[in-house]
Amino acid sequence: MKFDFDKVVNRRNTHSAKWDAMGVATGVTTDDAIAMWVADMDFEAPPAVKEALLEEVNRSVHGYYANDITWRTAMSDFLNRHHNWQPDPDHIIPTPGVVSALGMVLQAVSEKDDSVVVFSPVYHAFGKIIKANQRQMFSHPLINEHGRYKMDIEGLAKTIPNNAKVVFFCSPHNPGGTVWSKEEIEELANFCVERDLYLVSDEVHHDLVYSQAKHHITATTSPQIEDKLFTCVAASKTFNLAGAHIGGMIISNNELRVKFKKIAAQSGLLSYPLFGMIASEAAQVHGDKWLAELIPYLQANRDLVETAFPTAIKGCKPMALQSTYLAWIDFSQVELPMEEVKKRVFKGARIAASPGIQFGQEGKNCLRFNFATPKSLIIEVIDRLSEEFE
Ligand SMILES: Cc1ncc(COP(=O)(O)O)c(C=O)c1O
Repeated sequence: MKFDFDKVVNRRNTHSAKWDAMGVATGVTTDDAIAMWVADMDFEAPPAVKEALLEEVNRSVHGYYANDITWRTAMSDFLNRHHNWQPDPDHIIPTPGVVSALGMVLQAVSEKDDSVVVFSPVYHAFGKIIKANQRQMFSHPLINEHGRYKMDIEGLAKTIPNNAKVVFFCSPHNPGGTVWSKEEIEELANFCVERDLYLVSDEVHHDLVYSQAKHHITATTSPQIEDKLFTCVAASKTFNLAGAHIGGMIISNNELRVKFKKIAAQSGLLSYPLFGMIASEAAQVHGDKWLAELIPYLQANRDLVETAFPTAIKGCKPMALQSTYLAWIDFSQVELPMEEVKKRVFKGARIAASPGIQFGQEGKNCLRFNFATPKSLIIEVIDRLSEEFE
């Protein structure tokens, strides 16, 4: 191994949301608390990111950023190498993260009180940005079929409100780590075409896919939806650059892209932050080897969580993750009330996980644990849980 994912980096008092806002967000306040909630990793980013940032720091003149064509080309080439998709760099727009881009989509193609479809349980910021934009969230439950989520498009066809304009599709899915099959993506895309819906494919987790699974890009799998498709990608999850706060919005329909850019321009968002652009470009150009070592490290952590958690806590059931570093664990078969489970995890074991209810009613008996951390911490977590639940 060339890169040291075992290294424990002290992130306390570094403006880390995961470690420094843990107490406020999760109520776990002890000095030995372990942060397993928000989705960033505790690993150092690829060395090329540090080198590129150091070069900028050493120049010590940090004016406005321009010429984002190198950034857009880097993203397009990265997508081509990793996903066999080479979008035209002119179709890519940098955005201040993915969630803000979702809000801009809503402003570009929907009106106040229109409905936005999500498949729940789902990443909680979907609901927050829908609400903040005064749209209605229409939450259609996923089906848990033998431990894997499935979208129920037939059921959706019967219940979808008339004022639905947009679908937020999380691919791969958070939580649950589902990597959707080609057929599943096609079925959704066909439904969107039929019902004249815009499809937003949030593919921010698509590089973090484990060996048995293959991610399919919505744009290439389902060209029939191209004219109404927004694809969100980023270097942020893949290379641990969430703080850079940069995403890429890809829109091949010219008219739609103009609409989206108009919304971005209304808040002065077509000028980009220098440090984030430098960091994310360096990662996408030079980060392949780092990423190739990250995946097996994460996969080993996933395997450890999936085998050790049910031993530590009788009856708990981790969903078999095909993607993401976010273990989705169901406690409904544990012979304890959920409040007691949470008490033992948060207060007893001092582990800050994400309560499943944040992702929708369907998640009320689940907790989500971020395992993108050195293995030594995962072992500590397992020890603490074994003690609390013995
Ligand atoms: C599906 C999904 N989309 C978007 C994000 C966050 O994107 P950003 O930080 O760029 O707004 C996350 C973070 O967990 C996520 O899971």
